[in-house]
Amino acid sequence: MSPAIGHGHGKLILAGEHAVVYGHPALAMAVDRGFTTTLTPEPGPLQLPVEDPRLRAVVQDALPEGGYKVQIESTLPLGRGMGSSAALAVSLVRAVASARGEQLDPAVEWERVFAIEQRFHGTPSGVDQAVSARGGVVRFRRGPPPEITALPHPDWEVVVLDSGKAGDTRTMVDKVRALRPAIDPILSAIGALVDQAQAVLTAPRELGPLLTENHRLLQQIGVSTPTLDTLVDLALSAGAHGAKLSGAGGGGVVLALVGDPAPILTAARERGISAFCCRAAPSDPELP
Ligand code: MEV
Repeated sequence: MSPAIGHGHGKLILAGEHAVVYGHPALAMAVDRGFTTTLTPEPGPLQLPVEDPRLRAVVQDALPEGGYKVQIESTLPLGRGMGSSAALAVSLVRAVASARGEQLDPAVEWERVFAIEQRFHGTPSGVDQAVSARGGVVRFRRGPPPEITALPHPDWEVVVLDSGKAGDTRTMVDKVRALRPAIDPILSAIGALVDQAQAVLTAPRELGPLLTENHRLLQQIGVSTPTLDTLVDLALSAGAHGAKLSGAGGGGVVLALVGDPAPILTAARERGISAFCCRAAPSDPELP
């Protein structure tokens, strides 16, 4: 029998992280990197991209009956706010369904992936798995039921700058929750900014300053770090249209919306900062 394969996209949040946990909308983009799970029906080892007990337990619990060689590969930096847990969960759920010969209804897939995301993050909004499963760029508002709208495919490029430090989503979400209700006006401002950003999604010169403004608001709720702020400043001084931390913060990555990636990649290389280009992954036209 041939192997069963599942793929999940990684993501970048363009605008709206943290506010999305409290019912505001967010814009997220699937990237052309992600997780692939391959299940081969023969006895074999469980190969993970990184040795982590929680990850091993999640994978073991999801495996179908019978002996499988399991290979999980990632082209995403792990724990950097690029949706690695959601991409893993989508790839795993899809590979397991394929191994069982099961045609997965999107609502059933959602529930299975959400259960895995809860094991990693506690109370996720679902934005990561929404974009990981569908690709493209989406507007997301948490449910139930979640509102997910596919948006026009942008042709701009982003440079991702890695802070070199993992950020823990659960810890950062808990930290923000503890600051409420005092920070609710800032969360509302982030939500309003998402609507403005959506209206200029395919116009990078107009979108960029809104992303930078989103970073300033994220600073105000305490999820940025001096390193992330330095990366934003570096990107802006190297000519980015806009830049912001992306994901839960406390570490992770900065995304820079660029016309020309070369000056930012050069500036990053000169300072020993890991950086790479990303484009939006194609969206899945099958999904509603
Ligand atoms: C994490 O990618 C985004 C957060 O808003 C958490 C969530 O939405 O579950 C920080």
